[in-house]
Amino acid sequence: MRVFVAGASGAIGRRLVPQLAARGHDVVATTRSPEKLDSLRALGAEAVVMDGLDAAPVGETVATADPEVVVSDSPAQAAAYGAPFFTSRQLAISAP
Ligand SMILES: NC(=O)c1ccc[n+]([C@@H]2O[C@H](COP(=O)([O-])OP(=O)(O)OC[C@H]3O[C@@H](n4cnc5c(N)ncnc54)[C@H](OP(=O)(O)O)[C@@H]3O)[C@@H](O)[C@H]2O)c1
Repeated sequence: MRVFVAGASGAIGRRLVPQLAARGHDVVATTRSPEKLDSLRALGAEAVVMDGLDAAPVGETVATADPEVVVSDSPAQAAAYGAPFFTSRQLAISAP
């Protein structure tokens, strides 16, 4: 499955992304900081820069990623994603 993880550089994302990748999912992971891209790639993701507060770039970034599932903590943007949407509170994440 292709999974888009917004805010992947945080405490949850750093644990979630490798678990998804280890299970064979294609993961697109976002950060606002270009200097964090390599660390997201090292977790097994395709890394992209995105600020969740910029509506137009969010739409473009998600459309380009074409995910089947979106993990984000921005419910206000959920409708724009056009994919099943989960917040971190809905995920059961175990520490590595
Ligand atoms: N940690 C927990 O135990 C826990 C439990 C339940 C719920 N939550 C919720 O889950 C969410 C994430 O928690 P966390 O602990 O992983 O937080 P965190 O460690 O503070 O990480 C926040 C993440 O959000 C990204 N981010 C911040 N502002 C952004 C913006 N405007 N656009 C796009 N990305 C943005 C940051 O990415 P960059 O700075 O790289 O851009 C970073 O990856 C929060 O809403 C938190 O309340 C956390």
